[in-house]
Amino acid sequence: MMNDRFLRACRREPIDRTPIWLMRQAGRYLPEYRALRDKHDMLTMCRTPELAVEVTLQPLKRFDLDAAILFSDIMIPLTPMGIDFAIRESVGPIVANPVRDQRAADALRVIEPASDVPFVIEAVRALRRELDGKTQLIGFAGAPFTLASYIVEGKPSRDLLLTKKLMRCDPAAWHTLMDKLAQTIAAYLRAQIDAGAQAVQLFDSWIGALSPRDYREFVLPHSKKIFDALVLSGVPRIHFGTGTATLLELMKEAGGNVIGIDWRVPLDQAWQRLGDVTLQGNLDPAVMLTSPDVIECEAREILSQANGRRGHIFNLGHGVLPSTPIENVERLVEVVHGTIVG
Ligand code: CP3
Repeated sequence: MMNDRFLRACRREPIDRTPIWLMRQAGRYLPEYRALRDKHDMLTMCRTPELAVEVTLQPLKRFDLDAAILFSDIMIPLTPMGIDFAIRESVGPIVANPVRDQRAADALRVIEPASDVPFVIEAVRALRRELDGKTQLIGFAGAPFTLASYIVEGKPSRDLLLTKKLMRCDPAAWHTLMDKLAQTIAAYLRAQIDAGAQAVQLFDSWIGALSPRDYREFVLPHSKKIFDALVLSGVPRIHFGTGTATLLELMKEAGGNVIGIDWRVPLDQAWQRLGDVTLQGNLDPAVMLTSPDVIECEAREILSQANGRRGHIFNLGHGVLPSTPIENVERLVEVVHGTIVG
């Protein structure tokens, strides 16, 4: 059976049930993911199309999800740009050669996806064949700011102090770095769309560290270049961030026809502010560590805020946590799909 609920919700068309998928739906909370991870490291899995395809499909075999998201990582296109990194378990990306001045920013390359990341293109093509129109495929990339935060800090950071220092003390170097990232990501998402991705999501996970004024000056023009480059593709574009309560209007201005929000902003308030746009979210991933009954109650609250309005995609406010019990995900999907919209 063909299921296009996800795409219909992106376009704000009527739907029978609210579509649901989960950020990080393929990952360590799944025993079958951990079994494969015991044999291969994370980056090898991302760079081997057969493995990336297998992991992408794992959650779909268990749960009745309305979209698949390519298994990869936001760091993948950075290697051919000239960034040398590793992903350390329970920590995140560690960069060996952080970029903190104009020379280092000038040395970065804008990638050519077909020759620099052929394995991603191959995985997207293979996934479209496997999914056969039954489930929609989402491609993705990290947004310039979130990627720059790892590239400048060299590791995950709570305060992003070096990132904010570079912005202000060497704005030329900052804008060079952000422009090269924007060009790379636009080409990278374009290549995923050409290979068959039916929607794309830009992850600006750490953007909540900035004030609206900083966002407008140091980030918005660069994220906007990416969305502007993708408009003509006609493919839905999801713009996601966390901690964005003061940034939502600016994120919409930067682009995207779906805005992904976290649990800190109630859905109905976000709609009041943003008007006619599809919203994606926004259950707190911490709720997924409770019990099926608590999850049912919280999910119903979110569905009642949506109140049958066109253009809602159910998701968590951020990625599935590794300690999430499988039965909790099962209940969440049952509740969302068991509720008739309208
Ligand atoms: O959503 C999906 O199912 C697609 C897969 C996906 C991964 N990373 C797989 C992954 C996606 C969309 C990402 C994006 C990503 N990667 C982001 C943006 C989204 C977000 O969650 O904020 C960020 C900031 C990263 C950087 C990164 N990569 C981090 C912080 C980590 C976690 C480190 C850890 O061990 O806790 C990674 C590694 C990573 N990416 C894992 C997975 C499944 C865990 C790797 C493992 O198996 O050890």
